[in-house]
This record gives sequence, C-alpha cells and structure tokens, in this order.
Amino acid sequence: MLFLLRFHVHVKRTTNHICSKTKTLLFRSRYISKAAAKAQLDYDYDGPLMKTTVPGPRSQFIFMKQKNKNVGAVNFFCNYDDSRGNYLVDVDGNRMLDLYTQISSIPIGYNHPALLKLMANPNNLSTFVNRPALGILPPENFPDKITESLISVAPSGMTRVQTMACGSCSNENAFKSMFIWYRNKERGHNSPSEEDLSTCMINQAPGCPDLSILSFMGGFHGRTMGCLATTHSKIIHKLDVPSFDWPIAPFPRLQYPLEEFTRENAQEEARCLEEVEDLIVKWRQKGRPVAGIVIEPIQAEGGDNHASPDFFRKLRGIARKHGCAFHADEVQTGGGSTGKFWAHEHWGMEDPADIVSFSKKLLSGGYFYRDELQPYRIFNTWMGDPSKNLFLAEVLNVIRRENLLEEVARSGKALLDGLYDLQAQFPGLLSRARGQGTFCAVDVCDAATRDRILLQTRDKGVILGGCGESSIRFRPALIFRDYHVHLFLNIFSDVLAHNK
Ligand SMILES: Cc1ncc(COP(=O)(O)O)c(C=O)c1O
Repeated sequence: MLFLLRFHVHVKRTTNHICSKTKTLLFRSRYISKAAAKAQLDYDYDGPLMKTTVPGPRSQFIFMKQKNKNVGAVNFFCNYDDSRGNYLVDVDGNRMLDLYTQISSIPIGYNHPALLKLMANPNNLSTFVNRPALGILPPENFPDKITESLISVAPSGMTRVQTMACGSCSNENAFKSMFIWYRNKERGHNSPSEEDLSTCMINQAPGCPDLSILSFMGGFHGRTMGCLATTHSKIIHKLDVPSFDWPIAPFPRLQYPLEEFTRENAQEEARCLEEVEDLIVKWRQKGRPVAGIVIEPIQAEGGDNHASPDFFRKLRGIARKHGCAFHADEVQTGGGSTGKFWAHEHWGMEDPADIVSFSKKLLSGGYFYRDELQPYRIFNTWMGDPSKNLFLAEVLNVIRRENLLEEVARSGKALLDGLYDLQAQFPGLLSRARGQGTFCAVDVCDAATRDRILLQTRDKGVILGGCGESSIRFRPALIFRDYHVHLFLNIFSDVLAHNK
C-alpha cells in the first residue's frame, strides 16, 4: 500500500515532464488513489453497495406501470427512506455515492439528522401542513425566519430578498424587476402614462416596451418563456417555442488549467467583452435597448465554462456604463459548492451585482436585489414556501457549525487533483479538468463515450451528471469529504481503464 501511495504521488509530480515512453510504462499500472481516513459522519454509509445494474428489476417494473405518464427522463426509482448522507438508495437496494445530488440541489446530504429533528418538532407542524399565499397572508414569524435564513447570507450590497418557488420562476420575476426598474428610470418617476396603461393590455409599446436582456451563448437560466429566451445550452430546450429577439454574446471559451493560459484566456475574454458592448449599442440602435445582463458565474448546464474574476468585474463595469442592470444567476453555483457561499464572492467585489438569483441548495427559490430594484408588481400565489426557509436556517447552522465551506475547499482540491491525474493517465479519454471547490468537471472525448462512462460508473455505485456536449460534472453535497473523493477516484479509474 505504501508503495502504491508513493507511486501515485510520483505519477502526479512527474506527469508533465516524463518522456512519453516512460509515461506508457508507468500508466500501465492501475491508478490507486490514496486511501483517506474514513469520514466521521455517523449518518453516512461506509461505501456504495450494488445488488443489480441500474435501473434494476424493481425500477423497471415500476417504470412499466407508469407507461401512460411522462417518465421519459426518469433514470430509476428511489428509496428516500433508506438514503443517507452522501448515498442515494434505489428501489432495488442499490446504494450509490451521489455526486450529482438531484441536479445539485441537496445541500447537506440525504436525511440529515438536523433536518429530521426539525420535522419531529411539534412546534413546526403547522409550517409544514399549511402553505400560505405569502404575498398576502404570511405567518407571524416569516420576517424573522427570512432574516435568520436568507438575509444572513445576503450578497454584498444587498439587504432585500424576494422568495419564489423554483429557479426559473426566480429568474423570470427578476427579469420583470429589471424591466420595470429600467422603464421607471427612463420615465424619471414611477407613474405610467395613459398611453402606457392602454397599450399594455394589447401587448403594444410603450406599455409593453421593446426592451431586451443580454445573455450568453451556452448559458442556462431556465425553461419558462422569458428565461428560455436567455437559455442557449441545448437545442432540445428551445425547439418549437417562440422567443424574443434579444442579444446573445459569446461566453469565453477558456483553456485549462486557467493558471497556465492566462495570456490566451485574457485575450479571449477581451474579445467577448468587446462583443458585449457592440451588442448593447446595436440593440439600442434597433430600438430594443438592453435593460439587463444575465450571466452564470460558472456556466453549468452549458458545460461548466469558467471565466476569470477580471472578466466579471469588467462586465459589471460595462453594465453600469450602459445603464443596464446586472443579474448574477447563482441558481446552481450558490450555496457553497465553489468553496464560498456565493460563486460571485470569488470576484472580490463589494458591489458584485444588482440582482442575485438562487434556488437548488438554498431549498427555496428567489432573488436578492439592490434597493433601487424594489420589485413592484411582482406577485404570485405562493411566492416561496416558509417550510423551506425553516430548513434553510438549519442548513446554514450546519454549514457554519461544521465549517462545511472549508471542507468543500479541501475535498474540491482532492477531487480536482485526482481529475488532473486521471486525465494525464487517460489522455485519449479525458481533458480540460476544471473546477472551483467541488464544482468540478472534465471533458470526455465524445458524447457517446461520456454517456457510456456515466452508466458504467453508476453500475459501479457512483452517480455523476453530464453537461455541455461531452462533459461530466461533479455536484456532490457539502458533506462530501476526502474519503468520498478517493472512493470515487478508484471506481472512476477502473471504469476509464475499461474504456481505454
Ligand atoms: C443557472 C440556472 N438557472 C436557472 C435554472 C432553472 O432552475 P429550475 O430548474 O429550478 O427552474 C437552473 C437549473 O438547472 C440553473 O442551473
């Protein structure tokens, strides 16, 4: 074991320098990731346990019974009673290490004892049983719970938040806030004219103004009508749905590791920023000014595409210069998986955005906004869910008590180092390993191989996600430790060796 451990370290240090013949010789041996101390999580399982391939017979049986429902995207059926910590258990009794966590939406693992305790507290029962129309009849403790949960993690420069149900609905309403803000700015006051009032009812300007939101190629902001106009990650999301003529800028296509390509990447980012300014000017000339810019701090669904803090700082400056609101969509990046609670904290700005939207790991959707973007006329029936804020307050307690952001930085480094090793070992299969915290990804040589690798890895007890054309993305919970990283790396290297 000691020998293997040293061998691993040796491979890592010398990969970039050894001649290719030596490389071939070295890499004939199987990758063995160092065994980390077992995680001290008493609610977690020891490791994956597979009884069948996935989906197993029981999943397939249930699937057959559901033939008349929309189950085309279902992977398998789950047993959430038995799922715990980092492990998702399916109805066939397969226990899988989950590095995808319900599309990145489980903050502290399955059935966390702190959350179960909340559920068992009789004082919380009415919050779970009664879902209010929050916009008109909020419960007495709602303001306190919001202060305790969301406001305690408000992005720099923001003290206000609007809760919503999901990510799309948060972005959709954030866009509306930006439009209303922009129109009020144009008018110089908040009172619409008679013409505004009469034309809006028949979808005509000036009541329904010709304004636009600038988004980026490869971005994903949801699938509702407005969001979809800013989503450009996959054809399948957009096909056959009418959309708006809104500007789409190129998102930088960077080379990884970022530290090794600073000059090339800076040039690529400058090219994209120039294009952003050109588009803003063009759309103003077209009579459809850009009211807001929306961007993900790391493009997720579109392939885990990164850009530098400098890019975001300059983009923020461009938005300000042209009078556009700046909206950071942190639906996937928010909640700690980049090693900071918000990915935009990596930009090092006191005034990072006008709007920051969230959902997924924060359990409730919504958006923070600067005072000027006070969301007039933003309303729907539920406008969030107080039970989710109750859970979120507890999730934040756990994150703070257990220093989970530090853990994420640590396990994220182990994960990315492991991916660097594996891409050096399997250069025909893997490339462009990248990440921030545990928000990591790696490209596979083509989509068919990526899809096959995902299924084979799952059959060996690890759930991963795909993104972009042929990338694999890693989205573990915040309780993912070094121990789990090494479990994963060993399983993954076996699968890769099988596909070489
Ligand atoms: C960055 C981003 N924005 C918006 C959304 C849409 O969220 P939802 O699926 O909750 O509507 C997603 C979902 O994956 C996302 O990743």
